[in-house]
Amino acid sequence: KITLRDIPLKGKRVLVRVDYNVPMELDTSTNSYVITDRTRILETLDTLKYLIDQKAKIVLISHLGRPKGKRNPKESLASVAPILSELLGTKVKFVGDCIGPEVDKEKENLQEGEVLLLENTRFYPGEEKNDPEFAKALASHIDVYINDAFGSAHRAHASTEGVCHFIQQKAIGFLMEKELKYLGEELKDPKRPFVVILGGAKVSDKIEVINRLLEKADALLIGGAMAYTFLLTKGCKVGKSLIEPDKTDVAQKALEKAKEEKVKFLLPVDHLVAQSIDFEKRIVQGVEQTPGIDIPEEKLGVDIGPKTMALYAEEIKAARTILWNGPMGVFEIPGCEKGTFSIAQSIAENPSAVSIVAGGDSIKALHRSGLAEKVSFISTGGGATLDFLKGKVLPGIDSIPDK
Ligand code: 3PG
Repeated sequence: KITLRDIPLKGKRVLVRVDYNVPMELDTSTNSYVITDRTRILETLDTLKYLIDQKAKIVLISHLGRPKGKRNPKESLASVAPILSELLGTKVKFVGDCIGPEVDKEKENLQEGEVLLLENTRFYPGEEKNDPEFAKALASHIDVYINDAFGSAHRAHASTEGVCHFIQQKAIGFLMEKELKYLGEELKDPKRPFVVILGGAKVSDKIEVINRLLEKADALLIGGAMAYTFLLTKGCKVGKSLIEPDKTDVAQKALEKAKEEKVKFLLPVDHLVAQSIDFEKRIVQGVEQTPGIDIPEEKLGVDIGPKTMALYAEEIKAARTILWNGPMGVFEIPGCEKGTFSIAQSIAENPSAVSIVAGGDSIKALHRSGLAEKVSFISTGGGATLDFLKGKVLPGIDSIPDK
C-alpha cells in the first residue's frame, strides 16, 4: 500500500480518517462526557506528529458510537480535542460539524502544521449510507487522504471508502501500516509453532476465524462459553452452561477440519463453575472447581480451571508466534477472571515469540495485569481485526492503492 511516506505533504491539506471511537462516561460532577480509554488516540500520534513535522495542514475525521445520523452530546468528538492538544503539545482546534461552509472556511484558514478536528461523521446519515454527496463534501478543499482508522476499515462508509473517489492522492497512516504488518505479514508465514488462543461467548461469532486459522495454526486453544458448545459436540456434560445447540454441526465440522489439517484443537479439561450468575449485579453464586471435563447438571461454566491453565501455558511457552483474541471466562465478573489473566501471564512469559493480542477483554486483561509492554502488538480493531483474520477484503484498506 502507498503510505504517507510516499507522498509530499508540505503545505498540503490532508484529511486523516482516524478511529476515535473511544469509550466515554458521564462525569456527574462536571456534567460532561469524559474519555475512559485513550488507547486509540495514543495510537494515532506517530502519524499526526509526522504530518506536523512535514508541515501538512491536518484535518481529522472520525465516527464515535452509533448515533444513527442524529446529533447528540454523548457522541460528540469535542472532548477529544483537549486531549489531543495535550498529547501533541500544540493546539488542536475543534469545529462542531464535519461538512459545510464553516468547516470549509476552517479548512481554508489552516496553516502549515496546524491540526483541525471535525465533529462525528455519523451525525450525518450519509456517512453509513456511503452517500457520494456527503463523501464529496468531506473531500472539499482536501489534497491528500490518509486512512489510519484500522478499527473502521471493515466499514464501506463515506469517510472510509466513499471519500476516496473524490481525492486523488491516498495513503495509509503508520497505525494502519503497523496493523497490516502484524496481522498480515507476521501471520502470513508465521514462525512455528503458531499458537492461537480464542475465547468469547459464541461459536457463531468466531467460527469463520476458527476455520481460517485452522489452515495456518499449529494449535488452537479454546476458552470462553464457546468452548461449552464444542464440548457438548464431543459428548461432554455441560450442565446449564451457555451453549448454542444449533451450532454443534459447525462445531463438529471444525473439529473434523482440525484433524484433517493436523492442528491441535484444545478444549478445557476442567472448569470453574457457578450455581448462578447475575450479569447486572456482576456476581456469581455457588462457585467451585470441577475435577474434570464434565460440568455438573445444575451448574454453569464461568472460567477455565487450573489444569486447563497449565495445559494452555505449556503450549504458549513453546510457541514462536502467538495470537490471542477473547476471554477465557466471564472476565467482567469478579472471581471469574483468573483464566483470562493466566493467558496474559503465559504470553508475557514468552518474550521471544511474536505475540499479537486483539479484542476488548483480552486487551483489558493485559493492561490490568501491567503486561501490555510484554507483547509485540495490540490491535486497535474489534470487528475489523476479526474480519481481517477471516481473510475478508476490508473496504477501508482496499480503497488505498498499492505502491
Ligand atoms: C469499533 O469500535 O470496532 C470500530 O470503531 C467500528 O465501530 P462500529 O462497529 O460501530 O462500526
